[in-house]
Amino acid sequence: MILGSTGSIGRAALEVVEGLGPGARIVGLTARDNGQLLAEQVRRTGAPLAAIADERGYDALRRACPGTRVMAGPEGLVELVRSADADFVLAAIVGAAGLAATLAAVERGLAVGVANKESLVVAGAILMPLARQRGATIIPVDSEHSAVFQCLSAGRLSEVRKIYLTASGGPFRTWSAAQMAEVTPADALRHPTWSMGPKITIDSATMMNKALEVIEARHLFGLAAEQIDVLVHPQSIVHSMVEYCDGSIIAQMGTPDMKTPIQYAMTYPQRGAAGGAALDWKAVRALEFEPPDPERFPALRLGYEAARLGGSSGAVLNAANERAVDLFRERRIGFLDIARLSERVLSRHRCIAEPTLEQLLESDRWARMEVDACC
Ligand SMILES: NC(=O)c1ccc[n+]([C@@H]2O[C@H](COP(=O)([O-])OP(=O)(O)OC[C@H]3O[C@@H](n4cnc5c(N)ncnc54)[C@H](OP(=O)(O)O)[C@@H]3O)[C@@H](O)[C@H]2O)c1
Repeated sequence: MILGSTGSIGRAALEVVEGLGPGARIVGLTARDNGQLLAEQVRRTGAPLAAIADERGYDALRRACPGTRVMAGPEGLVELVRSADADFVLAAIVGAAGLAATLAAVERGLAVGVANKESLVVAGAILMPLARQRGATIIPVDSEHSAVFQCLSAGRLSEVRKIYLTASGGPFRTWSAAQMAEVTPADALRHPTWSMGPKITIDSATMMNKALEVIEARHLFGLAAEQIDVLVHPQSIVHSMVEYCDGSIIAQMGTPDMKTPIQYAMTYPQRGAAGGAALDWKAVRALEFEPPDPERFPALRLGYEAARLGGSSGAVLNAANERAVDLFRERRIGFLDIARLSERVLSRHRCIAEPTLEQLLESDRWARMEVDACC
């Protein structure tokens, strides 16, 4: 089943499933409000279940998909996850909105491919122990974490000295802070190497994406924040690396195409042939790496701060950023305000060390209101 099937990851996942052949069957699809595309996908795949988060789309979707059981609202998505006859769930909703459905999949003990990094950033401390308790396999889909996951098969977790998450650097890698102050949403939506949904594209431009990924890696692999390094690698060929205690560094490489990590999560522990295009080494001129610049990209610092603090701080940073990105896309704040507001809200938060799910959701609501109050 694919949660968020109308998005960039969801559409790529459907292509992968088609490439895998008749053994792979879609049993459920979901969207927020793009009922038209969801209905087309349901017809194409014959999915027996579909859910639309925006209840206004329910009637039209039901009429467009007569043979399919249609559910609506955020609870409809959770109900779909609970009732589908699935063995694999791709969590590809964007933002904290994906958390409830991801948790429902983990509660069922299914194999869950997690693209929705925000659910781990917000509630990794609840989600990962729950997965162990219920026997759910969490397979990262974020290209960097998929790379680390793959590199970890070369040794033991206890033998890992550190991991290197690579970052393209985004469209403003070489821009000054003064230039970045003038950035418009259209500028920020032009990514040099990856084709992605709008929120993650803007997160890549601020490097908040890498900040969220540091927190995601901490939860996924149980590493200390000090064991997670970030390297800017403009070619986006080395997707991440693991350094072991003997100094050996294992890298996972390939073209920047999300179909590769999506397929890996779907077919794990096997590999399939429906992923991204092969890398043409003759066309690769250089593999460059440089340290990120925390002065021009302060968001990254916030990721480390939240990773060290733990508790409710990931939920707060994530929510503040989500709200600030929305305000930036509506042109109500500037590009540099995204990190500035996120930092202000994180600094005002009284971190709860071991929060319950309700406290995490409350921290999320508080952070969004604080952003509105600060701007
Ligand atoms: N795109 C990439 O290359 C990439 C790479 C690594 C990780 N990721 C992660 O994968 C996730 C998805 O990213 P994306 O780029 O595919 O995003 P996207 O293109 O914006 O798609 C988001 C999907 O989530 C649905 N959705 C949005 N808000 C929702 C809500 N409130 N309730 C239920 N469904 C909702 C959308 O439905 P509608 O179409 O109806 O709005 C759409 O199906 C994100 O967490 C992102 O960080 C993406």
